[in-house]
This record gives sequence, structure tokens and C-alpha cells, in this order.
Amino acid sequence: MVKKLGVLTSGGDAPGMNAAIRAITRVALANGIEVVGIRDGYRGLVEKKFENFTKSSVSEIISRGGTKLGSARLSEFKDEEVQNLAVKNLKEENIDALVVIGGDGSYRGALALTSKGINCVGLPGTIDNDIPGTDFTIGFNTALETCVENVDKLRDTSSSHHRCSVVEVMGNRCGDLAVYTAINCGAEIVVSPETGYDELDILERLRYLGNAVKKNHAIVIISEKITDVDALAKKISQHTNFSGRATVLGHIQRGGSPSPYDRLLASRMGEHAVDLLMAGKGGQCVGILDNQIVGLPIEEALQRPKPSRKHLYRLFDRLV
Ligand code: F6P
Repeated sequence: MVKKLGVLTSGGDAPGMNAAIRAITRVALANGIEVVGIRDGYRGLVEKKFENFTKSSVSEIISRGGTKLGSARLSEFKDEEVQNLAVKNLKEENIDALVVIGGDGSYRGALALTSKGINCVGLPGTIDNDIPGTDFTIGFNTALETCVENVDKLRDTSSSHHRCSVVEVMGNRCGDLAVYTAINCGAEIVVSPETGYDELDILERLRYLGNAVKKNHAIVIISEKITDVDALAKKISQHTNFSGRATVLGHIQRGGSPSPYDRLLASRMGEHAVDLLMAGKGGQCVGILDNQIVGLPIEEALQRPKPSRKHLYRLFDRLV
């Protein structure tokens, strides 16, 4: 029987984290469970940054981006001594269950705490859509909307100036933001960890689009951490008849009011996390698979292979 539940957000923030915090808090309180907000991710567990939540603590946050609780990456949380201190602090506060909203690193922390007697449930919160055990993560849909809105704007100006816009999107070695943006924006080329990087091929394709197809502009969507996009834009100017310009969308992708899709996803996942903990289940993570909200053991989820996106790249190729 859970009496007091803690909630924290960890890793890079994502739009919709607040909606999840709100759902967890409200569902728990409605079931007679006390709720404690833990600030700044796992650091707050170690430094005892605890705040008792009431229903109104989570008022007016559903529409806000970021996370009310603050977030952090704490690599030291891998150390057993640090984990033991967290467990001691939780026990001193009588917190007997925890919901962790974050990425797969946060899931590993949740698993460690569960093995030490504090039942934890993980919720996938990241714009990267790179967490196993779920088709979509909280924040991905909003970040995608931000990418699409901005690439549409870049298309307006690049088509007026016979330019090629090279747009770098986030994703942390996952190409989902890139390929979904590329399809939604009618981009000419997409480059991601899944496609690999072949500079000569990119230049050749742009020469073909400019010379043979007589396109007056082109958009290249490229995942972060692949190449220097300014250098690529310069090469495009030198070796094709487009003038190249690079734009790094950067952290604006992480901000902004969450989309209705993300608010609903976060609310459904938050509800399910509390239900799992009330059923005495720990070491689980919540996902959406085939539009059903599910709970999976974290260990099983982390071993799942990355889902194939071949159908999306094939669609992209057929639409160019
Ligand atoms: O995981 C979310 C993310 O925004 C990634 O897309 C990106 O690689 C990384 O975080 C950036 O991290 P930071 O905000 O620490 O620079």
C-alpha cells in the first residue's frame, strides 16, 4: 500500500513533463496518497530537495513547457553509495514509491532504487523519441511541431533566394525528429544516423535537383552530431548552383507549450504510473504501444531493439 509518492524529472526537459507531474499528483491525491515533488532530478534525492504537493501545487502547469520541478543529469547516480544515500533520504521522509520522468539513463536509476526497496516507475520524457518500450515519448510531438513550423519558415526565404537550407535538428543519435520533420516539410534530403552521411552523394543530388529538375530551392534536414552544418552549407555553395545556408534549431526544440497530443499522452502515462505503483509494481516503465498505454519491466524495455523506421525513409524517398 503506497502512502507517500515522490515525483522527479531527470535528463533534458521536454514539453509535457508538467502535464505528467500534474496527472501523477492529482491521481495520487485522489487515492489518498501524499505527494512529494523532488527538485532537480536525482540530485534532489541526494540533497533532499523535497516539497509536499497539494492539488493546487500543480495548478496552471498543464500548458507550460519545461518542468516545474527542474531537471538535471547526475552521472554520479550510477555509484551505489549515492544510490544508498538517496534511499536513506527517501526512507527518512517516508516516501515509499517514486515516479521518474526522463530518458533511459533515468530508467536505470529507477531500477537501482527499486532493487533497494523503493518501488519506482519510469515515464518516457524526452524530445528525442529514443526510449525503448514506447512508440512515442512525452515531448516528441511538440518538438516535431516546432521543427515543422521553423522549417516551413526557412522554406519561404530559401525559395525566394535560390538557396539550400541545411537544418540541423536534435535527436541524440536517433533520427526520428529528422525523418518526421523531413516528411512533414517536403524536404529534399534527410540525413540521420539511420541514413548515414555521404557528403559526395548529398552534393550530387543537389546538383541534379538544381540543374536537371530546375528546383529553385532545397531543404536538407540533418540530425545533430553528424557533421558541421556550416561547413556543409559552404560546400553546397561551392559545388552546386544553390547558395547554402545552415540553421541549427537547437534548444528552441525543447521549449514551448506542449501540444494537445503530448498533454494527453503525459496525463494518460502519469495516471498509469500511479496505478502500477498502487498495484505494488515497481521497476516498470510506462509506454504507448499501438495506442495502448502499457507497463513493461524496465529491464525488458531496455533490451528491446530499436524499432525500424525503414517504412518512413521509403515514404520520404517516394515523395521527393
Ligand atoms: O535528450 C534531449 C536533448 O535535447 C538531445 O536532443 C540533445 O542532444 C541533448 O539533449 C542536449 O543536451 P543539453 O541540453 O545538455 O545541451
